[in-house]
Order: sequence, then structure tokens, then C-alpha cells
Amino acid sequence: MSIQRTEIKQTLLKETIGKDIVVKGWVRNHRGNNYVLFVSLNDGSCFESLQIVVEIEKFAPQTIKNITVGSALSVFGTLQISEGKGQAVELQAKTIEVLGTADPEKYPLQPKRHSLEFLREIGHLRFRTNIFSAITRIRHAMIYAVHTFFTERGFYNIHTPIITGSDCEGAGEMFRVSMLDPLNPPKHEDGSIDYSQDFFGKETNLTVSGQLNVELACMAMSKVYTFGPTFRAENSNTSRHLAEFWMIEPEVAFNTITENMDLAEEFLKYLIQYALDNCMTELLFLQNRQIQEEKGKPEAERAMPLIEKLQFILADSFQRLTYTEAIDILTNSKPNKKGQFKYEIKGFGTDLQSEHERYLVEKHFKKPVILTDYPKDIKAFYMKQNPDGNTVAAMDVLFPQIGEIIGGSERETDYTKLKTRIEELKIPMEDMWWYLDTRRYGSVPHAGFGLGFERLMLFVTGMGNIRDVIPFPRYPKNADF
Ligand code: 4AD
Ligand code: MG
Repeated sequence: MSIQRTEIKQTLLKETIGKDIVVKGWVRNHRGNNYVLFVSLNDGSCFESLQIVVEIEKFAPQTIKNITVGSALSVFGTLQISEGKGQAVELQAKTIEVLGTADPEKYPLQPKRHSLEFLREIGHLRFRTNIFSAITRIRHAMIYAVHTFFTERGFYNIHTPIITGSDCEGAGEMFRVSMLDPLNPPKHEDGSIDYSQDFFGKETNLTVSGQLNVELACMAMSKVYTFGPTFRAENSNTSRHLAEFWMIEPEVAFNTITENMDLAEEFLKYLIQYALDNCMTELLFLQNRQIQEEKGKPEAERAMPLIEKLQFILADSFQRLTYTEAIDILTNSKPNKKGQFKYEIKGFGTDLQSEHERYLVEKHFKKPVILTDYPKDIKAFYMKQNPDGNTVAAMDVLFPQIGEIIGGSERETDYTKLKTRIEELKIPMEDMWWYLDTRRYGSVPHAGFGLGFERLMLFVTGMGNIRDVIPFPRYPKNADF
């Protein structure tokens, strides 16, 4: 009779002490002498690895030889209290089966700290490191917390389409979806491409946001959200941009911009609290790593330790002010006067860069900030126009280290105003008739926002580059793995 595999997570609960069990996993590390080997075996069920004690003389020489970093083992043995330092329990091996060898001459991962850049080059193996398994576990916890938050509050999850014919944000940063022969596409007489002969009979692209569709559901279900992949062909090679990222977009009927801000703040605090309550092992590991990394820096330049930083967000309410007020603060700020911003603040209408956003959050207010009422010309067509004629009921939530983490707004509900705006921006009406229709039939105030999931992950993990908080990052000139 074969014994069922015990997950390493279970062995830490100590209920299995004294019992004979089978564990399976990958070798993270091994050390020892001519008589005994201590093998760290990890199966991903938890952060910790299990120490396997291997008395060398009891096993075939080939088995011992095959126990290398990266190899996969099935071990049968007795779980016992560990006499050594660093672990509470260990498994005294009785039989070992090497399930998969890993040639030590070729296996790229060694039990030492590799650079994050190097690990990106071996994206197929980086799950096997402490850091990526920690991030993967936090990522899962955050996904779960997102769905729990909305479920507890009576929201419905809506799957919005990935292939669309519209450009929600109007920035023209879409990846085209086409089955036309790129060498010989059908053309109109004027030389333009005839997309009526394409798969969908029209021009289509990967969605930049699920918002327009989730708004349709909102106009019947009241409280909805979508959580899906979004795609942006912007050529931003920064540590905060991906070409493929995941976005959470709630949309609530009868909500105003103020209630939208309340929801965004409650949501972010819930997610951070969830991480503190459920991912402490991983957070401590990431915090230690951060502290090690910053050892060389003078104290004044060191970032706040990760856990303290997360608790800090929960302590206070977010600072709310208008874009115009923020422009005032920035115009009179030291870095603007001294020309230290890369992009100068040129009064009302300046599109804020992350350096400006971070100044407001990190230097001026020293807490998260929600900016509202942006100039209508720098925001999307669907935002509710304010009575002043210049601004819209937009809101961006700005975080330390990140800058913009959430973008949202109250929506324009007036049919004529919305139609006029669509025409002004020359958005093709044939793409928008259905969206406009909701403003003809039972239109009500509503508001929503989008949280960039990887921006949240950046913040919660304290990682410096967004490419390291998603399993398979997509960015300009890179779609490996
Ligand atoms: O501000 P954005 O463009 O807003 C929207 O797409 C709205 N339709 C949301 C809504 O109201 N339902 O994007 C929302 C968030 C940003 O605040 C940012 O966190 C993230 O999405 N984001 C990105 N994350 C990673 N890589 C990129 N290239 C991103 N672009 C936006
Ligand atoms: Mg935005």
C-alpha cells in the first residue's frame, strides 16, 4: 500500500510527529559530510522547506549522487523533532526515490541570492526561489481577498470581453486582433484596409479596460466588478508599466464621486489588512530582504520597513484634494522652483507625472492622496463633466513608491453631454451606440474605478519592479515564457 503524500505545510503543524510519512518536492539546498546529508525540500505548500536527514550509508551511492539542487524527490521517513538549529522538525529518511534529476553542471539556480534581472531571464525556473514563491503566495492571497471583499458586500463579478471593438481610455494604445493576411490584406479603393473581411467583420483589439462593459451590467445589477487581464501597447519601459496587466474595476449604481472615493479607500485598506493578517511569513521574508539590501545606505535614505509601511497606510485616512489645489502645491514646491522635477509644472492642464504624485504623497502630505476634479482634456470621454465646464469628476488614488494606484470617476449620465464629448473626441459612433443607449434608458448616477493589480502587488511586496510581481511579464521587446 502506498502512503499518501503529506504536504510540507502539514509537517509544520507537528501533528505528524513520530509518524511515518511521504513527502515530495524539489531540493532547494543540501549540506553535510561523509556520513549525513541535510536536504532542504520544498513543495510550494508553504514558505518553509522541510529538512530531510539522509544517513549516507543507508542509500545507494547513485541515489546520493542524484540528490542535487533542483532535483525532485519522494522521501519516505519518520517525522521527528529536530535537534539542530533553524527548524522545529525534520524527516529521518528511510527510502528515497529520485523522481527527476537536475544536472548540477547545468541547473541555473544555486542556493544563493541571484539578481532579479538574472531571474527574469530564467522566468521558467524562478518560481523555485524563495522570493518568487513568496510573491506567488501573496498574489494568490490578494486575488482571494479581492473576490472576498466584493462578495461580502453583495457585488457580482462580471466577465467582460477580452476582444473588443472599442477603446475605453481613448489613448489609442491597443493591440490589434486580426486574421487578415499581413502580406496581402484586402483593401478599399482608397488603399485603406478592409476590416469588413476580417474575422469579426470589423476592426478589433485586446481590451484596455473592462469598464464600458461592466457599466452595462451595473445598469441592472447595481453593484458589479470585473477582474481581468487588460492590454496596453504603450511604449513605457518603466518599473511600473506592463503591456499586459490585471485590473479590478468595480462599478456602482447610484454612487457619487465621494462614495466612489470611500469605496476605493476601504478596498485598499482591506487588501493591505488581509496581507498583514494572512501573509506574515512572506512579508517578514521580503522585509528582511529589503533591510539587507539597504544596509549600505545612510539611514536617511532607507525606505520604511515593509510591514511598518503597510501598517502606516491603515493608520490614517487618505488626504483628499482637487487637482487644482495639487497644482498650487506643486507649483510652489521646492523641487519645482529649483527645476528638480524632470517635468515642470506648467499650471492647470499639466498632466501629472509619477514624480509629482510621489512628491505630494511622500513629501507633502506623508500619506496616500486622492486627487479629484482633473481638467477634462487630460481625462477619458466618459467622466462626468463638472458645472465649471473645465473639469470632470475624476479621482486618482496616489500611493507612496507607486504614484497612481487607482484611476476612476463618476460617469457622465447625460445623453447629450456624453454624445457631444464623443463627437468632440472623434470617437467612431458605431463603436459607442450601445454605451450611449444606457444613457437613454433609465440612466442613473454611477461611479467606478480601476485598481492596477500589479501596482497593488508592488506596494504590498515592496518590490521595485512590476516585472517581478507577475508570473510572466509582458513588456516592450519581451514576450518570453
Ligand atoms: O487609470 P486607468 O487607465 O483607468 C481605467 O482604465 C478606467 N477604465 C478604470 C475605471 O474607472 N474602471 O487605469 C487604472 C489603473 C491605474 O491606476 C494603474 O494602477 C493601472 O490601472 N495601470 C497599469 N498597471 C500596469 N501597467 C500599465 N501599463 C498600467 N496602466 C494602468
Ligand atoms: Mg489613470
